[in-house]
Amino acid sequence: MYTQAMDTMAPIQAQAGEDVARQQRFDQRIDAGGFIEAKDWMPEHYRKTLLRQISQHAHSEIVGMLPEGNWISRAPTLKRKAILLAKVQDEGGHGLYLYAAAETLGTSRDQMLAALHEGRAKYSSIFNYPTLTWADVGVIGWLVDGAAIMNQVPLCRCSYAPYARAMVRICREESFHQRQGYDALLTMMQQGSAAQREMVQDAVDRWWWPSLMMFGPPDDQSPNSALSMRWGIKRISNDELRRKFIDATVPQAKVLGVTLPDPELTWNEARQSHDHGPIDWDEFRRVIAGDGPCNRERLAARVRAWDEGAW
Ligand code: 3HC
Repeated sequence: MYTQAMDTMAPIQAQAGEDVARQQRFDQRIDAGGFIEAKDWMPEHYRKTLLRQISQHAHSEIVGMLPEGNWISRAPTLKRKAILLAKVQDEGGHGLYLYAAAETLGTSRDQMLAALHEGRAKYSSIFNYPTLTWADVGVIGWLVDGAAIMNQVPLCRCSYAPYARAMVRICREESFHQRQGYDALLTMMQQGSAAQREMVQDAVDRWWWPSLMMFGPPDDQSPNSALSMRWGIKRISNDELRRKFIDATVPQAKVLGVTLPDPELTWNEARQSHDHGPIDWDEFRRVIAGDGPCNRERLAARVRAWDEGAW
């Protein structure tokens, strides 16, 4: 029997059928390891998850210019100054590629920057620590950019193609950043004075644990990991990346002649990987909640640069 309600239900049912079909096509593409382009249909939660991660990443690149920018005018030689200038400019470029990738998901750069300036958006915990000496610049290159590469190479295979494409160039530039940092430290360790070697060790002592925190909370306390891994946004878990970073860094520390500040750092033959001591997750939570050594200073510097740069 015909009723008027049937007329109004039909478009809703057709829409529901279309939504299911789109979702199935999306899932099949993800399951096959394929890529999603900006013009493709995607679930709203996938879009929001990407925006959350890309926003955090883009802001990290921009705020990350500050601790090292602090040393451009005090670099020890013209060569080191030119290298540092290029590196800091690269980070600005990375931020711009990432803001552009986020724009393809419907959020403008202005909206993202407003969220950063109002304290509503996150950026990496690592940039809330101070750069006290020139050795800090080398250690940021070696450890911080080294950790960033470990985290970001798998993002070149992220299921969202505009983000993945941005990451290819970013990773190439990050490799130069890591090498220049290691080279600066090697010079200080092999050709420097005892005081310079101490400076390097002191910087390693201060940056080691915060570098390990860059990979995010342990897998069993990471609220976003399961879905991000399911959707191919993240390809390798936080703990696994942290473990790979430690394994890659230990031999580099030996060549450099520095000690990593973890007495529990030992090779585990059975796991073919290093065991490490406990990470201070309370400190991590404090820093991402806005209470690290430099959070207020960093945000104030960004807001000032924005206000003073207004056209
Ligand atoms: N600093 C600040 N916030 C962090 C963090 C860190 N080190 N690690 C995790 N968080 C935040 C997450 O953003 C998330 O917050 P939200 O839910 O409010 O967005 C929360 O803590 C829970 O963490 P999860 O593990 O569940 O979050 P994710 O699944 O997003 O994983 C991540 C965290 C591994 C950092 C991931 O977002 C990621 O791979 N991001 C892309 C790379 C990136 O952001 N790198 C920044 C490093 S610095 C950099 O690239 C600059 C270079 O020049 C050195």
